[in-house]
Amino acid sequence: MRKIKIITVLGTRPEVIKLAPVIKELEKHNSKIISKVVLTGQHRVMVDQFLEFFQIKPDYDLDIMLKNQTLFDVSSRCMERLAKVLEKERPDLMLVEGDTTTAFIASLCAFYLKISVGHVEAGLRTHDKYRPFPEEINRCLITVVADLHFAPTKRARENLLKEGIDKKKIYLTGNTVIDAIYAIAGKDYPVKNKQLRKIDFKNKKVILVTAHRRESFGGSLLSICRALKEISAFKDVEIIYPVHLNPNVQKPVQKLLNNRRNIHLLSPLDYESFVYVLKNCYFALTDSGGVQEEAPAFGKPILVMREVTERPEGVDSGVARLVGMNSERIVAEAKKLLFSKSAYDKMAKSVNPYGDGHAAERIVKAIINGFR
Ligand code: UD1
Ligand code: UDP
Repeated sequence: MRKIKIITVLGTRPEVIKLAPVIKELEKHNSKIISKVVLTGQHRVMVDQFLEFFQIKPDYDLDIMLKNQTLFDVSSRCMERLAKVLEKERPDLMLVEGDTTTAFIASLCAFYLKISVGHVEAGLRTHDKYRPFPEEINRCLITVVADLHFAPTKRARENLLKEGIDKKKIYLTGNTVIDAIYAIAGKDYPVKNKQLRKIDFKNKKVILVTAHRRESFGGSLLSICRALKEISAFKDVEIIYPVHLNPNVQKPVQKLLNNRRNIHLLSPLDYESFVYVLKNCYFALTDSGGVQEEAPAFGKPILVMREVTERPEGVDSGVARLVGMNSERIVAEAKKLLFSKSAYDKMAKSVNPYGDGHAAERIVKAIINGFR
């Protein structure tokens, strides 16, 4: 039997984390599959540290990142350079993940060359064009182009069915981020980050913060920073905030929150250090997609600094709450969790609506069966 040639395209930190389990699983089936990896390089430092950790060696690195890049920069550079690789390699299938511009442009390139597309983490929707921006439209467009849709949850599957996607092309797999996190969650490893080692996780209430969405640049990010300042004045609180490298995030956050004793502004953390903080924090305050999926696995309450989410499962199961980006609301919700034990206990429950750690196996099995 002829081997199936698969090219996996990735570009940003969450794509590496979520595609690493799939790439490893593809490698296990090398008698049936030729697997190649293309890194667009939409992120640089933030992907290089993760590729090394997951031991992924891309066959191509398109190295597209520019400082403070626009969506046009990412799209045009990615399209031009990826087209050449695809024309040369002509795979049977291309795999993309989620909703980044790397994933969308890669799907479009594949379509232009009549290459089949498999979409990992398909079917997430807010039904709000600009929230998150541009991710909501990126993932809708990938759905239109994709041939195989790997839906992480039942809700995601229903969204795809409502859009008229053939049910035979949808596979309910769970989210591969749970595969990634389970692979390290039970391990006892030394924490690499020196600043983290100084923080008293036992006696302090540690709040993990991340924020990077394009739609919050400007006023909303300033409002988030104001809230963090107020929260840092509460007793026994330590705030750990690994700051995204985007200059639109770095500049205001460093300007407003630097030099506060209990706000620790860190460089982006390696995955093990991040998971260590998530496992040991009191709660998380975030606008990240991936963190919304990971926090419930550790029973950590999570306040989501967004108006809408494409991951309603955490909210429905009571472990996540949408608090928006208004500073008074963020402070009020954080105060509840810090000072009301009953409010805290209600949210601190280990539920796992996003997967069981076997998503990558299901995805690769579906691909092999599909090409039989
Ligand atoms: C991107 C994705 C977003 C995803 C996020 C994960 C798009 C449009 N956005 O947003 O969906 O949630 O990644 O983090 O696809 N930078 C560095 N070094 C790095 C990475 C980024 O310096 O390693 C800086 C650069 O100045 C770069 C900027 O961050 O221009 C923005 O990067 P970009 O990928 O365009 O946007 P993100 O906000 O990271
Ligand atoms: N993450 C990490 N180090 C950090 C911040 C995040 O390892 O300093 C991980 C986190 O565990 C999650 C992923 O990065 O799996 C989320 O990435 P991000 O928030 O950049 O993107 P999103 O999920 O919002 O697309």
